[in-house]
Amino acid sequence: MSDFEDRFGDALEAVPEEHVDRSRFVPGVGPLDADVVLVGEAPGENEVAEGEPFVGQAGRELDRVLADLGVDRSSVYVTNLVKVRPPENRTPYVAEIDAWRPVLDAELERISPTVVVPLGTTATRAVLDTDEGVTDLHGRQFERDGWTVVPAFHPAATFYDETKRDEFEADILAAFEAAGLV
Ligand code: URA
Repeated sequence: MSDFEDRFGDALEAVPEEHVDRSRFVPGVGPLDADVVLVGEAPGENEVAEGEPFVGQAGRELDRVLADLGVDRSSVYVTNLVKVRPPENRTPYVAEIDAWRPVLDAELERISPTVVVPLGTTATRAVLDTDEGVTDLHGRQFERDGWTVVPAFHPAATFYDETKRDEFEADILAAFEAAGLV
C-alpha cells in the first residue's frame, strides 16, 4: 500500500478487516493538489495487475476522452469507492462501499478538489447519497461538502451503447469546464 498507506493510514485502519484484501487492493492515484477527482466503482482484474485505477478497457476510453480535451491524465486524481476488487467483478455491495467510505472521505478531504466526478450509477449514488441513477442525474451539477459534483456515465457504459459515448464525452467536458480547466 506504500505511499497511499502513508497518506491515508488512519482512514485505512477504519476499514473493517473483512473488507481488506491486500492481494486485490488498488489505491487512488494522482496529485494531492488535483482540481478534479474521478471516482469509479471498484478495481477490476487489470487494475489489480497494474496497481492503478482505470487501466483496462474502461480506462482506455477515459484516456481517449481526456486526451481529446487536452487534459493530461496525470493531473487528475483517479480513485474508486471500494479499493479492493470484488469477486467476479461484481458491483460492490453497499456494505463494501460503506466499509471503504472513510478512505474516500479522507482522499477528498486531503485533496479538496474543485470538482468530483462520480463515474456511473454506483459512484453517483454513493457520492451524492441518493437513490437516483446517473441517467437521471448527469448533465447537472451539485454542491456537496465544498466541491462541485458532476455525475458522468461510466466509461464502460459506452462499450455496448454508441449513444452513451457522446453523453460520456459531454459529461467529462462539463466536469472539466466546471473546474475551469478547459
Ligand atoms: N471500473 C471502475 O469503476 N474502476 C476501475 O478502476 C476500473 C474499471
